[in-house]
Amino acid sequence: MVELHISEAKKAGESVTIKGWIYRKRVSGGIVFIILRDMSGVVQAAIKKDSVDEATWKAAEATTIESSVELSGTVVEDKRAPTGYEIKATSLKNVSVSEPYPITEYQSTELLLDKRHLWLRSQSMTAVMKLRSHFFRYAREFLDKQKFFEVTPPVITSAGGETGANLFEVNYFGKKAYLTESSQLYAEAMIYSLERVYSFVPSFRAEKSRTTKHLAEYWHLEPEMAYYNNEMNMELQEGLISHIAEKLAKEHQDELTVLNVDHKALGKIKPPFKRISYEDAIKILNEKGFKLKWGDDLGVEEERAITAEEDKPIFICNWPKEIKPFYMPINPKDPRTVVCSDMQAPHGHGEIIGGSERIWKYDELVERMHEVEKLKDVKFNMDNYSWWIDLRRYGSVPHSGFGMGMERVIKWMLNLDHIRDAIPFPRMANRLEP
Ligand code: 4AD
Ligand code: MG
Repeated sequence: MVELHISEAKKAGESVTIKGWIYRKRVSGGIVFIILRDMSGVVQAAIKKDSVDEATWKAAEATTIESSVELSGTVVEDKRAPTGYEIKATSLKNVSVSEPYPITEYQSTELLLDKRHLWLRSQSMTAVMKLRSHFFRYAREFLDKQKFFEVTPPVITSAGGETGANLFEVNYFGKKAYLTESSQLYAEAMIYSLERVYSFVPSFRAEKSRTTKHLAEYWHLEPEMAYYNNEMNMELQEGLISHIAEKLAKEHQDELTVLNVDHKALGKIKPPFKRISYEDAIKILNEKGFKLKWGDDLGVEEERAITAEEDKPIFICNWPKEIKPFYMPINPKDPRTVVCSDMQAPHGHGEIIGGSERIWKYDELVERMHEVEKLKDVKFNMDNYSWWIDLRRYGSVPHSGFGMGMERVIKWMLNLDHIRDAIPFPRMANRLEP
């Protein structure tokens, strides 16, 4: 008797033990048919009243959907079965008999969200969660190969690192603090010893807008590189995205098939990605019937229109300085703009990466922060930023970086309708449980 996983039960005649959960159960003429699932797949098992002992038969009768069980039996070939094999059971033990399972075939989206802790066992969520783990692994794998160090920034911060408009407040020993909205400023501090770093921790955005691409807590991959300009920054980004897509297409076709994702299309995501300027984007959109002025930001509809016919992501570069943050340098070729780029996913999945060069000279940074205060009618508490500005005084170097929202990438590549299904326990304006 060998203990193994379902996907390994492929030797006809072998006696095996499998620990799993009941996925389906059917009783017919002295035989209990079950479909058993474990982390590797599903297999059918037949428990015949006249070929098992009494305890096993009782257990087979008592078992219910989602009960945890230990099943032993002989592997037999069955061409019609999903794995090509079936188990003729010799013994079945209930580890824990499940109460009536609250999720049946057709359920509302709300119920599935309320029962998220159970819905995670569904075939589709299982496939997404397996793939999610691979997305994380391949992202790290790519950056490790490029000689990056992973660094760990604080999650509790004294000030915003981006727009500061959607911060979650925390009572920090009687002082106001915030959950981090971006780890960029901390990543910047670490390039002076490690040169190429990335942090990969959650960012928090108190986004009240209910859209299909906003989470209040999302996993944010933020690389920061000494001596990179934005062209090198974009090359790194397209390399990263292509590496993830290529690995998924090559190694994980089974899970992609469960989700109806065409692995061949993913396999075609290769550098270079198209680069257009913000100005071009406005022109293209106005030709499509939008009425945008120079300086307007792109909303969901605009993002959809500009990427509708694309099969690969595109970069939109050099945005107006009024709509981008305080750390981006003015573009010397067009001082109305800053040196930055956003990566837009194809088919309207929206912005997946925001990146830029960083102002690395002390005076220029202080001047730009004051300019942003006027342009946006905000007030920076300079005490909170002084350590970060200080970095410009001690051997500063040109540098660039970007932030990639992992759930946005997952939503796009797995063609999910909503970003909440890219993360096990979504945090959104109207949802904190489970
Ligand atoms: O464009 P953002 O706000 O840029 C930054 O935070 C920079 N400091 C990053 C950097 O340069 N280190 O956010 C970066 C990315 C977006 O492109 C998007 O993919 C994702 O983070 N993102 C969200 N993902 C899910 N839910 C939200 N509410 C998100 N807000 C941003
Ligand atoms: Mg952005």
